[in-house]
Amino acid sequence: MELTQHDFPDLTHLPPDFVWGVATSSFQIEGASSPHERGESIWDAFCRRPGAILDSSDGLRACEHVERLEQDLDLIASLGVSAYRFSIAWPRVQPNGDGVVNPRGLDFYQRLVDGLLERGIEPYPTLYHWDLPLSLQYRYGGWYGRETVTRFADYADLIAARLGDRVPTITTINEPWVIAMLGHEHGVFAPGLKSRELALQAAHNLLVAHGLAAQAIRARCSAKAGIVLNMSPIHPLTDAPADIAKARLDDGQINRWYMDALRKGHYPADVLEHFGSDAPIVLGDDFELITQPLDFIGVNYYTRNFASTGDPWSATQSGAEVTDMGWEIYPAGLTELLVRLNRDWVCPPIFVTENGAAFVDKRVDGAVIDRERVEYLATHIAAVDEAARQGVPMAGYFVWSLMDNFEWSSGYLRRFGIVYTDYETLERTPKASAHWYTRLLERQRKGQTQPRSPNTR
Ligand code: FCB
Repeated sequence: MELTQHDFPDLTHLPPDFVWGVATSSFQIEGASSPHERGESIWDAFCRRPGAILDSSDGLRACEHVERLEQDLDLIASLGVSAYRFSIAWPRVQPNGDGVVNPRGLDFYQRLVDGLLERGIEPYPTLYHWDLPLSLQYRYGGWYGRETVTRFADYADLIAARLGDRVPTITTINEPWVIAMLGHEHGVFAPGLKSRELALQAAHNLLVAHGLAAQAIRARCSAKAGIVLNMSPIHPLTDAPADIAKARLDDGQINRWYMDALRKGHYPADVLEHFGSDAPIVLGDDFELITQPLDFIGVNYYTRNFASTGDPWSATQSGAEVTDMGWEIYPAGLTELLVRLNRDWVCPPIFVTENGAAFVDKRVDGAVIDRERVEYLATHIAAVDEAARQGVPMAGYFVWSLMDNFEWSSGYLRRFGIVYTDYETLERTPKASAHWYTRLLERQRKGQTQPRSPNTR
């Protein structure tokens, strides 16, 4: 693919130690799911539900990342990134989520971390990216049960003790809003429940679990502790006062609920009032735990949302440019979000821990020319640079995702990778966007953000 000056944004405001990476999560890529490899997770059970996954697939084989670890490490290294964000499958190291450890599982993550370090890549592990040990769901109700919080603190302590000396950061939880609301209120993600009350209790328990895990990490190792939130600007669809009020409330549920709790030690009053008797039970020192100092915040950004009191807004029907998920492509929303976060909650260093797009990719003559993804990534990275220009402490950026993988309820039908996965052979083919990313990082390293000639190929 011919690359031009336009494909390489001028990145003049990012700090010299800015971290560039790619991201994945355990259930989406690992495979190796037989009982001696790992315990079952709530996603295994959810995948068995008829109709839960668009293509009726599951994560049993996924990308066979465990089996192909060395090859994937070389692949990551070949991209020229300085960091790799991955998650640890809790049921791989503690099959039932209790004290019993599977040494084989721990050994896998040790090999992963060592393999990254040998290749000069910094490991950015996340403790929880949605694959809860199924046994905790059955025994304690999973995240709406308080015992799971205690179990998570033990698990965090184990990982911090085993890996904490070799990783710069440990993220506790990935996207508590998604886990709580999509999993427990809307029922479209595991564990597939439909109760607002349980969802809000899960949301609260996840934040308490984060706090306890952050304490455990600090007590055990020098890795920095933080959390990853999915966030979007919410705009009113019209100027009507009702739409403006709805936008405020939606923002309250997705953004302020988590940021106020983490940074201010309380939930927003208007949202609590809206939730009424569904609001979670908060125990005595919960907010002391939730407000543990954050060394960093991770932001996952894909799109913005509109709030309307009329028919729900649909990006696809609005005529906006959309990705294969039907999500509007709106890079300015990333700058808006980052600037707002820092203004309203005074943030520690912020990483964009996920950003990327699904498009319909085709491999033709062994190549995948994903021009739309290059455009998506380039404009969003430019939006991060703009946030830095406006004073936001930007620390890093991770493309979602390293390779096409199991995209939750969309199964294998949505491709987010910068590397193409052939699901028959599991062969990996770097797409044009992967080559572009490598070039961008080379230019960054050389301080060459301004191209010398219009055609920079
Ligand atoms: C995020 C998830 C990630 C991936 C992207 C598309 O919400 O954290 O695993 O599925 O969406």
